[in-house]
Amino acid sequence: MHTLAIVSTKGGVGKTTLAVHLAVAAQHAGVQTLLLDLDPQGSAAQWAKDRTRLAAEHGNWVKTRLEVRRLFANDLSEEIAKAEGEGFGLVIIDTPPHADFPAARAAEAADIVLMPSRPGYFDLHAAKATVSLVNDLKAYAFFVMNQVPHNSQQIATDAAAFLESKGIHQAPVTVTLLQPYVRALRDGLTAPELVPDGRHAQEIGALWHWLQGELAGLTPKIHQAPEVAAPPKKILDNPFEFLAQKFTDEVA
Ligand SMILES: Nc1ncnc2c1ncn2[C@@H]1O[C@H](COP(=O)(O)OP(=O)(O)O)[C@@H](O)[C@H]1O
Ligand SMILES: [Mg+2]
Repeated sequence: MHTLAIVSTKGGVGKTTLAVHLAVAAQHAGVQTLLLDLDPQGSAAQWAKDRTRLAAEHGNWVKTRLEVRRLFANDLSEEIAKAEGEGFGLVIIDTPPHADFPAARAAEAADIVLMPSRPGYFDLHAAKATVSLVNDLKAYAFFVMNQVPHNSQQIATDAAAFLESKGIHQAPVTVTLLQPYVRALRDGLTAPELVPDGRHAQEIGALWHWLQGELAGLTPKIHQAPEVAAPPKKILDNPFEFLAQKFTDEVA
């Protein structure tokens, strides 16, 4: 089982959008995928709830169910180990903005990290914090240029050159600023499901294709649930003896 983390400490760059689009692309490709939502806002989890409800109401136009679980970063290792035991082929972790701890735990746990970034000046400036976080952790990371205006590829090229100069490679697919990416989520869908033949469908298909190739070349990290210390044998043998003693001590 492979693990992908989508990380940026900047909000609004497209983490959740890419997380759900890649998760659905993976499911369509036959890879059983679990999305873990570390963001207390729970956007991915809310979208999945809507997707399930709309599938029930409207029948089969929602082709794949997607399971999304909300959790705290402290429980990440345990949940990933559990997912492996449950037979998932891929775990995608969506992370919150403005929080280094969950971003770092997700980047540590993942085989590969994607960092969405918009090409604007303020966005690139803000990306510095995420760049140093993944560099410090020596994570296998790529940034994905997102929300690139369709008529200004030069802006994306310049932005990519800037981020590459900071030591982060660029995914070979740029995601354009397109209305179906927004519109589809409202209906519990992803853009290629809403409009199957469009630029967005090509982009998500190409991004998934590239990611699948990267994952195929990576040995998955080993995930073990943290060991929980077993209670002393005395308590296991006679659980009430301990309580009885405690009670006697407190009353005395
Ligand atoms: N490629 C895109 N084209 C158009 N809108 C986008 C695109 N990517 C994201 N958005 C929109 O930008 C906003 C922020 O995206 P979101 O995925 O919630 O970012 P994050 O999870 O990083 O905070 C959302 O309203 C989303 O619909
Ligand atoms: Mg989000």
